[in-house]
Amino acid sequence: MKVAFVGKGGSGKTTLASLFVRHLAARGLPVAAIDADINQHLAVALGLDEERAAKIPALGERLPELKDWLRGANPRIASASAMVKTTPPGDGSRLLGLGGDDPFHALGQEVDGVTLLATGPFSDDDLGVSCYHAKTGAVELYLNHLVDGPGEYVVADMTAGADSFASGLFTRFDLMFLVAEPTRKGVGVYRQYTEYARDYGVAIAVVGNKVQDDDDLAYLRAHVGDDLLTWLGQSAAVRALEQGRDDVVLEDAERAALDLMRDAVDARRKDWERFRAQGVEFHLRNARSRTDPALRAELEEQVDPGFRYPV
Ligand SMILES: Nc1ncnc2c1ncn2[C@@H]1O[C@H](COP(=O)(O)OP(=O)(O)OP(=O)(O)O)[C@@H](O)[C@H]1O
Ligand SMILES: [Mg+2]
Repeated sequence: MKVAFVGKGGSGKTTLASLFVRHLAARGLPVAAIDADINQHLAVALGLDEERAAKIPALGERLPELKDWLRGANPRIASASAMVKTTPPGDGSRLLGLGGDDPFHALGQEVDGVTLLATGPFSDDDLGVSCYHAKTGAVELYLNHLVDGPGEYVVADMTAGADSFASGLFTRFDLMFLVAEPTRKGVGVYRQYTEYARDYGVAIAVVGNKVQDDDDLAYLRAHVGDDLLTWLGQSAAVRALEQGRDDVVLEDAERAALDLMRDAVDARRKDWERFRAQGVEFHLRNARSRTDPALRAELEEQVDPGFRYPV
């Protein structure tokens, strides 16, 4: 299952993603975590010290070799440089398995049973050139080529705001957790996101965060209704984790919230055909946005109409 944490800046995306990932890993479940945010904080939230966190290789800086591996013997993709973030797999492409023996997972870092992948931080080189989308392109390629099986989880900590909806990236997820504080801005993004998601049949579940009392809860319920899956309060455990303590125990209510989140993910039914078709749709949209007719045609021809995920 492919899961994303989205929401406004500072709402608690990284915190909840890391708690969820730890929750799964503690139960012995296979889980990969991807830091897809401009500011890379997930590694530290998972308990790595700053020094080790800074050493995690950035997928975004290895795109040529990653693309070369993925395209494999696919005759529709002439070279790594012809491959863009939306280029879908086709006959001859290599596909990924969770935690597999491949160049993506080779760049990952094991943290307490979690495979952590990172797109890499936004650097000055990215400014004005290709923007951060070039780097998150590594995440899109990873998700497009990953055939995850039942009981396997990929959890992505996403960039704040509606950026995740600028490309087709949001359609790659089986479930998006929208982390919302009980504030106007917190629920404001909910409206924006659900509009995008509804058109594509992408499931969103709201997880309230920093909910302090019944009024906060009533506020969330009034604005997001039944989409409110569960919530966390102001958490002493989160604070203790932030202080670097390693003897932290979650409260029962917090564990119960994480269990509900896992149940919500497990209840999703995979629709590989929709996954494939939407990937192609966004790739064609990307192709048709190009002004150079030759480039446009080259990208369009990358679509292999006969390809189906081997599931
Ligand atoms: N339930 C909680 N209880 C206590 N503190 C929390 C809780 N959730 C988040 N925080 C704190 O709020 C701050 C922001 O959280 P976090 O970094 O997870 O947000 P974010 O949405 O990932 O932010 P950004 O948009 O900058 O990536 C952090 O200091 C975090 O420890
Ligand atoms: Mg964050």
